[in-house]
Amino acid sequence: MGKVSIIGAGNVGGTVAAAVAHFNIASDVVLIDIKEGVAEGKAIDMMQSAQHYQFNSRVKGYTNDYSAVAESDVIVITSGIPRKPGMTREELIGVNAGIVKSVMDNCMKYAPEAYFIIVSNPMDTMTYLAVKNSKLPKNRVFGMGGALDSSRFVYYLREELGCAASDINAMVIGGHGDTTMIPLISKATYKAQPVCELLSKEKQEEIVKATMVGGATLTKYLGTSAWYAPGASVAAMVKSILLDEKKVFPTCTYLEGEYGQNDICIGVPAVIGKGGVEKIIDINLNEEEKALFAASAEAVNKTNNVLREMKLV
Ligand code: NAI
Ligand code: 2OP
Repeated sequence: MGKVSIIGAGNVGGTVAAAVAHFNIASDVVLIDIKEGVAEGKAIDMMQSAQHYQFNSRVKGYTNDYSAVAESDVIVITSGIPRKPGMTREELIGVNAGIVKSVMDNCMKYAPEAYFIIVSNPMDTMTYLAVKNSKLPKNRVFGMGGALDSSRFVYYLREELGCAASDINAMVIGGHGDTTMIPLISKATYKAQPVCELLSKEKQEEIVKATMVGGATLTKYLGTSAWYAPGASVAAMVKSILLDEKKVFPTCTYLEGEYGQNDICIGVPAVIGKGGVEKIIDINLNEEEKALFAASAEAVNKTNNVLREMKLV
């Protein structure tokens, strides 16, 4: 049984820790936050739920003590500020870049062998920052965004089709941004039948649009960004690593020629197993999807330029 550390014990980090514990896939779960007592308190609260959820993981919280991450198999970075209603993920870069860089540096001191999953927004750019700064092999540092966007895509399809979520196969690739993500409606299926054969063109467009602003819709309701589906999406990726499930997730990973892109981290389907990003899957995009992917990469690259201007990469 492995060890998972989560930096940032806020809404998403706390939910990741709880989901990993409930899956009972790690012997140790560590939560770290900068705010005095928050990680400690959430960890004890989770441990007091162990009897009901029937898990054996030991969850422990720390304030700023990075020695606790030593020997982690997986480290999840959720530290930083979330967006408020009306804000884009990209607007968070100024604050979150400094946080992600310092957190990565601290984790590297104690757990240079770990796999890193970046969650803090703007996630594609934060993943790029983490890959560039850590100089770790690209299979060991990657980001979660597409797994969440895909689960929102599945939700909207499921609501329309009135079926089980598990019977739908649907994927969102590209950047994790309201205008950069690409819900692949042409490839979505319900029990192997293309959903395009089941839904009108108007309905398909409506679902694609709802998926793209899925995060913003929740931010309007909550006053901050969502955490249940984000936490579950990260935990599913952690599980695929620890149990070597080799599941395919749209993963924000460093590209070197794949999908026609270079020197960028962006969402593409990838096999996630005990070797982290074990393989990038080359799916056959149609001409429209190829153009959308190129435009998405251009937008992500523009945000990455802010890091270059800040001399952080
Ligand atoms: P939150 O505000 O609930 O939690 C963030 C936590 O990070 C806080 O507890 C804060 O004290 C902590 N923190 C700040 N600076 C720190 C540092 N230097 N070291 C350690 N901890 C530090 O925010 P929430 O909702 O948990 O979101 C976290 C991040 O994840 C945000 O940037 C948000 O935009 C992003 N996010 C990304 C998603 C994705 O799909 N990639 C989905 C949902 C959120
Ligand atoms: C979300 O998609 C804001 O990235 C966050 O909910």
